[in-house]
Amino acid sequence: QRENPRLDEIIAAHQGREAPLMPILNDVQAEFGCVSEDTKRHIAEALNLTRAEVHGMVSFYHDYHETKATLPILKLCRAEACQSRGSEALAAKAEAMANGRAEIESVYCLGLCSVGPNAMIGGSVHARLDEPALEALIREL
Ligand code: FES
Repeated sequence: QRENPRLDEIIAAHQGREAPLMPILNDVQAEFGCVSEDTKRHIAEALNLTRAEVHGMVSFYHDYHETKATLPILKLCRAEACQSRGSEALAAKAEAMANGRAEIESVYCLGLCSVGPNAMIGGSVHARLDEPALEALIREL
C-alpha cells in the first residue's frame, strides 16, 4: 500500500470521535474526489473495522464515489501559430472558465495553423477561438 500522509491526517483528525467513519469519508471524498479501494482498506484498518463495513458505507451514500469522475478534456493549442493569434491569453483564462468542470490540456499544433487559435475536444477541432467562443465551448462540455 502506498503511503498517503494526507489520508493519515484526515483519519487522525476524526479518530477520537464517537462515529468517525462518516466525517472521515466526507473529508476523503472532498480531498481526493473518490474513496478508492486502497483508501477503504486503510480506513478500515485504522478504525478497526472490516473492509466490508467501510465499503458498505461508501456504496450506500451517493455522495461517495469509488473512482474519480473523469472530466471532459479540452486540448488547447499553444504552438507558435496559435500563440501568435492569441492562444496564450486564452490559456491563461481557460482554467478559470472550466472551474473544475473540465480539464484543460496544452497541445502543440493541431495541423490547422491558419485558422487558430484552435482547440480539440474528443476528435473534433474547434477553430478561430476567441474568449466568448472558448467559454461557450467549455460550457457545453
Ligand atoms: Fe495551433 Fe498549428 S499552431 S494548430
